[in-house]
Amino acid sequence: MLQPIVHVLGARPNFVKAAPVISALRDAEQTVIHTGQHYDERMSEIFFRELGLPEPDVNLEVGSGSHAAQTAAIMIGLEPEFTKRSPGLVIVYGDVNSTIAAALVAAKMGIPVAHVEAGLRSFDMTMPEEVNRRLTDQLSDLCFVTSPEAIGHLADEGVSVDRVYFVGNPMIDTLMKNLDTFDTARVRAAYELPDRYVLATLHRPANVDSPRVGAELVRRLHEIADLTDLIIPLHPRGRSVLMAAGLDDHPRLRVLDPLGYIDFIAAVRGAAAVVTDSGGIQEETTILGVPCLTVRPNTERPITITHGTNRLVTLGELVPAARKALANGANGANGAGGIGSAGGAVGVGLGGGAAARRIPPLWDGQAGPRIAEVVMRYLSG
Ligand code: UD1
Repeated sequence: MLQPIVHVLGARPNFVKAAPVISALRDAEQTVIHTGQHYDERMSEIFFRELGLPEPDVNLEVGSGSHAAQTAAIMIGLEPEFTKRSPGLVIVYGDVNSTIAAALVAAKMGIPVAHVEAGLRSFDMTMPEEVNRRLTDQLSDLCFVTSPEAIGHLADEGVSVDRVYFVGNPMIDTLMKNLDTFDTARVRAAYELPDRYVLATLHRPANVDSPRVGAELVRRLHEIADLTDLIIPLHPRGRSVLMAAGLDDHPRLRVLDPLGYIDFIAAVRGAAAVVTDSGGIQEETTILGVPCLTVRPNTERPITITHGTNRLVTLGELVPAARKALANGANGANGAGGIGSAGGAVGVGLGGGAAARRIPPLWDGQAGPRIAEVVMRYLSG
């Protein structure tokens, strides 16, 4: 009889990554603990429903707080759960506060840790996620890697190669599994979207916490809305600063509540371009073939630039880059994304001249089964 597995999930991107792993491990004894880092219906429950995730066995309901308060509350909540369940492995996902909190508690209790999406690095320690990633990898017995360069990053930090498994990208498993449900016509009708629009999502502290940066961002978004309709499903984090800066004070800019997974990806698929500071959306647009302008000085996902549609832009570069992406018309109003051409080289023409777009290696919808196979072998000793 194998020891049980505990999955710790906390925030929106975790749910999308965990769904294929939990599904592939369905024959094992597994428990899902939700830390409650994200708690709004539209940031959490809707993802569990749409992705077919099992109802969490436990919800710690930690809610929001400073980094120290939130991380500490998760740790305090997890310790008795791990004691009670004696897992043979704790699986953590991505780079959020729930990830490092769970890895730290498990490691101190002598419980092995598996990290899904290990080895990504922005080399920017001002990002809380970079701190979480680096420390989680040091504490992990199994490092599941989505992208080849992550293997080198882990080696550089002294992580032994026999802990590292290049398995592909479970977020892309979820995308591929649900591909038929991303109906751009339905979502356009449901939200009364125009034929041609840019979709923006912005929530990084560096972009939305300061009123000064927030005001400049809003000015740039209004300039994009002068070019074409702009829709913004707004993360709760940015709401107060961006709305105070007059975000929705433009006739062609629409602010929406956060969308569920299916509607969100359908809206991305139908967009002429995406403006974002998210990590996962850089990957999803790469597969869907939608031009992606990432408002950040760096990315921990460079493969989305070398293989995909992503481009890093400063606030000063954002509007010219959007103009160019719209002029190139890589993704027409009917949302003909690039997924149909997966595997081949496709011109997407971002940032001048047609760049060769290739699907990153092992982003083939099979990461979940690969992870499950390694986990089952590990638990069998
Ligand atoms: C977290 C992750 C970030 C990830 C993002 C995806 C960390 C350090 N950051 O950022 O990497 O990209 O999730 O969404 O873990 N809030 C609500 N309702 C919710 C959740 C949050 O209103 O359900 C508001 C609260 O005001 C909260 C703020 O959003 O204070 C920030 O939430 P938090 O979980 O601390 O970080 P995120 O910005 O969501």
